Amino acid sequence: FIRSLSSSAALHAAIKHVTVIGGGLMGAGIAQVAASTGHSVVLVDTSEDILKKSAKGIEASLKRVVKKKFAEKPEDGEAFLQKVLKNISTNSDAVSVVQGTDLVVEAIVENLKVKQDLFGALDKVAPEHTIFASNTSSLPIADIASSTARLDRFGGLHFFNPVPMMKLVEVIKTPGTSQQTFDALFEFSKALGKHPVSCKDTPGFIVNRLLVPYMLEAVRLHERGHGSKEDIDVAMKLGAGYPMGPFELLDYVGLDTSKFIIDGWHEKDPDNPLFAPSPLLNKLVAEGKLGKKTGEGFYKHK
Ligand code: NAI
Repeated sequence: FIRSLSSSAALHAAIKHVTVIGGGLMGAGIAQVAASTGHSVVLVDTSEDILKKSAKGIEASLKRVVKKKFAEKPEDGEAFLQKVLKNISTNSDAVSVVQGTDLVVEAIVENLKVKQDLFGALDKVAPEHTIFASNTSSLPIADIASSTARLDRFGGLHFFNPVPMMKLVEVIKTPGTSQQTFDALFEFSKALGKHPVSCKDTPGFIVNRLLVPYMLEAVRLHERGHGSKEDIDVAMKLGAGYPMGPFELLDYVGLDTSKFIIDGWHEKDPDNPLFAPSPLLNKLVAEGKLGKKTGEGFYKHK
């Protein structure tokens, strides 16, 4: 026990420099949190234009955090903001930055081939000790890791949106992930101020495996005419204490994202009724009604 404690502490001490790849919704959030907790972060995306937008978004988000946290002492807030911003740099060439990194967190497009190509290329240039982690929501970590020769130093770090607010991180261990790597990822999540939980490399890990079938079950209940969207949402908020109802949550997550996840699981396990496609969800996605981001999903959004 003492040995495992000290080795994980040693490894945790080693994670100082983090490369976050993908400057979208999730990557920008992960970079922000890592920089705020004293890590040196390089944020990578495909173009300088996207990176400029991500950096602006991070600064705006940090300013909101600082305003709240340092309401009494705005000067301390400004100093904190400057310190955090100094911890983040951006780059459009992943290969050139991973040479000095302890951990790569990937949050790019949810496509197996694209993720494999990225990690395959990085595996050739990253130092021996560098740990690779994917933030994928629906792809098996082991499938992504198979493009590299570091299966023991590959795991999953699954964050939740919005990253600066959501406390949970699912830390995923594949059959190939070493205990040392798992411990290092677990400790890193704690160092971010998050609450990590341990997951196996199974579809949806813990949260989405329970949440996605639940949301689809709500759509089916509504499709059968057994409840209005509004009533189902109110029922789950007031009856189960959920902060959002299932239709509100679907609109927030994005109907396309939810469809993509359920379709992937259905393809792999067609007999599982929990993974059956929903005609209503498919219809809305086909009409481009993807939820909050397009202004309409199950509900209209201003
Ligand atoms: P997003 O579309 O907002 O951002 C993805 C970014 O990756 C884009 O800026 C894109 O330019 C960049 N990118 C694409 N290919 C690249 C490459 N080869 N190299 C460098 N950058 C590249 O997507 P989002 O929502 O941030 O999702 C990213 C990952 O996080 C996905 O794997 C998704 O499954 C996962 N995830 C998403 C959650 C969510 O609520 N949106 C929650 C947890 C995980």
